[in-house]
Amino acid sequence: MIYDLMPYFKLETKDLNYIFRVLPTGQLEHLYFGKKIIDQHLDVLHTKITAGAGSQIEYERNGHKTLLDLMPLEYSGIGKGDFRLTPLEVKMPDETFVTDFVYYRHQLLKGVILSDHLPTAHQNKEDAESLIITLIDEMAHVELDLIYTAFYTSNVISRRTILRNKNEKPIHIRKIMSMMFDLDSSDYDLYTFDGGWIKEAHKHKRPLSYGTYSIESTTGASSNRHNPGIILAKKNTTEDQGVCIGINLIYSGNHYEAVQISNHDLLRVMNGINPHCFEWTLKQDESFETPEAILSYAEEGFNELSKNVHNFINHHIIPSAFQQTARPIVLNSWEAFYFQFNHAKLIKLAKQAKKLGIELFVLDDGWFGKRDDDTRGLGDYTINKKKLPLGLHRLAQKIKHMGLKFGLWFEPEMINPDSDLFREHPEYAISIPGRTPSLGRNQLVLDLCNDHVRAYIKEKVNQIIDTIELDYMKWDMNRHITDMFSKSLNEQGRFYHQYILGLYDILKDITSKHPSLLIETCSSGGNRFDLGMLTFGAQIWASDNTDPIERLKIQQGLSYLYPLSTISAHVSLAPHAQTLRESPLSTRFNVASFGVLGYELNFAYLTYAERQEIKRQIAFYKQYRTCFQYGTFKRFDTLSDHQITWQISHEDRHIVAQYQILADASPGFEKLVVKSVNRNKLYQLKNFEQRFPLKRFGHLISHALPIKLNPYGFILRQIGKYKMLDNTSIDDTVSGQVLFSGYKLKQQFMGTYYNDQTRIIGDFGSMIYTIEPSEEVIM
Ligand code: GLA
Repeated sequence: MIYDLMPYFKLETKDLNYIFRVLPTGQLEHLYFGKKIIDQHLDVLHTKITAGAGSQIEYERNGHKTLLDLMPLEYSGIGKGDFRLTPLEVKMPDETFVTDFVYYRHQLLKGVILSDHLPTAHQNKEDAESLIITLIDEMAHVELDLIYTAFYTSNVISRRTILRNKNEKPIHIRKIMSMMFDLDSSDYDLYTFDGGWIKEAHKHKRPLSYGTYSIESTTGASSNRHNPGIILAKKNTTEDQGVCIGINLIYSGNHYEAVQISNHDLLRVMNGINPHCFEWTLKQDESFETPEAILSYAEEGFNELSKNVHNFINHHIIPSAFQQTARPIVLNSWEAFYFQFNHAKLIKLAKQAKKLGIELFVLDDGWFGKRDDDTRGLGDYTINKKKLPLGLHRLAQKIKHMGLKFGLWFEPEMINPDSDLFREHPEYAISIPGRTPSLGRNQLVLDLCNDHVRAYIKEKVNQIIDTIELDYMKWDMNRHITDMFSKSLNEQGRFYHQYILGLYDILKDITSKHPSLLIETCSSGGNRFDLGMLTFGAQIWASDNTDPIERLKIQQGLSYLYPLSTISAHVSLAPHAQTLRESPLSTRFNVASFGVLGYELNFAYLTYAERQEIKRQIAFYKQYRTCFQYGTFKRFDTLSDHQITWQISHEDRHIVAQYQILADASPGFEKLVVKSVNRNKLYQLKNFEQRFPLKRFGHLISHALPIKLNPYGFILRQIGKYKMLDNTSIDDTVSGQVLFSGYKLKQQFMGTYYNDQTRIIGDFGSMIYTIEPSEEVIM
């Protein structure tokens, strides 16, 4: 809901208010963002500039005065007295950079306001209301729309900006942020989610002080270096307590987020397209629209914030066809075969997958052109007949006949110099005339600013989807952009943004023609994990790292601002290809199940006993799939970096996972704490039974054997293929109160002896517990 209480505007969601007003001088003062307030007199929220400050510039208009540098504002400009970081840098018709935007008019609208070129949050039932405030620079005849949408149920406010030139002379935009506002206190920490390939989205906390803190991407994609999502949290905020504000951007290209603390302790925050190499000219009556920014607020810690934004993404960002739908369990061929496969090998893998309960078979890279390694073939769509002599269609049909869905990998934005497409159309690749373009993974980027290139990609990709009636597509993008230039543009400062608009144009074409095609996007793992991509593809391959211990950091980082339904996670073989770490099969599942589960391995390299474990894992995941994919996710504050606990709850069914990175010698007694349970109810507490291989005990197994056998010898190896050791199990009826205050667990292995009551966790170990309403009656 949005209340027009001119000069005040009050945006309201289920629990929040976002309030600002038009100052007598015409600028917008940011008044409040937090839990709903009941005050009738909103003037209590005004900033009381009663004494001013030294060295201030006085802004005067229509007989009113203000000190812009001391004012918490909703947006700002340059050259009228606000000396803080500007959200807007435009060379105006008079060739100066001075702007003076003041209130002009406003309009309230039901629902969301869509954009012609950019993805935006979509309408869900009658859940949203929008407000357009138009500001004007009266002298320059330039208008600035600030668009606000309040999403009632999910407690999210979105903002974006449109700049319109009404002047007959052109203006040149160098920086235009999607949103900006000033908070009236500075005691916040900034949380960012940063990393690189195979170490995406690690959480980092920066205490703020005077000055400017910024993160950005310059790689052409939202990047694995810094996710566009950030959090501002009051000092000492924990998972379940404290004030925090989540900020994100529906955009997949170069982004920029900045926080600045001013000399009067105001906190300015802004986000938008990165001004890096950005220049955009607007002729008369042309306009520029920014991507949409997302804001949410919580007082009960990060978990409450995550709940809001998860709901928002699940209902307003994910394509409608996939909202709240069960995502299939995938078998992906990449870590199983890389480029070395053929028809028979794929069929064999698919048959094994089907037997274990897999639902969707995905053929990854290597099915087209002469693609036997990563040096050639990108850009070509002819089927690799050496590997697939019967063709792709027959392969897909055979796999579908087994009762599996069929998916395929594409990297549509790329081209190898060694490809038929490049030989025919070298001009399709991005490069600067006269310069040798740099390669990344032996490939160049296609010029998505060029209409012909986009038409080529649309035609080829749509054709394959149609001929093999594809169920799922993995859309990959495996290099950063360099040598930025497009012949199709007469202003190269548009390049990065126009590339992303080109990408969205292609994705819009494909998704509108195939609304029921499930798209998983990917960019060398999580190099483009953002809300823009999620409006087209419901899930994202979070990282090329399938080591569960690394995934704990990656998935936990992502979970702050993205729901588990968007995080694709696979069980692979160990030692892991990314770290050489050995991890237990149980932990690989216990981590991958907190997301959209898949497997990415060759079952032939597993023992019979391990395959049986996988069969049980898949059955378990199916039983709790709604909970894992759409439940309310909660992280636990832990005292040690070696212990991580996650919980997911759906309709009073709860799953808690405890992960132990390193085992302590002779540890103390441990508890299982469950959040959000009804204290006056009884629950059935069980653990997901998991077994472990004999070799876990190495030479120690010989102490437990009645006869002398070489612990590493043939006989025990053979037995180990068919038999695993049981771990302890729990099946208890417990009240919500006891679960909330902590259920006492059996001891871990203590270096004394092993019996069937010992919890074997060890290094990289973990355990999943289920907590469901008990049928037992309270006497
Ligand atoms: C990227 C992806 C992987 C895989 C390979 C194929 O690295 O992130 O999952 O698809 O490309 O080349």
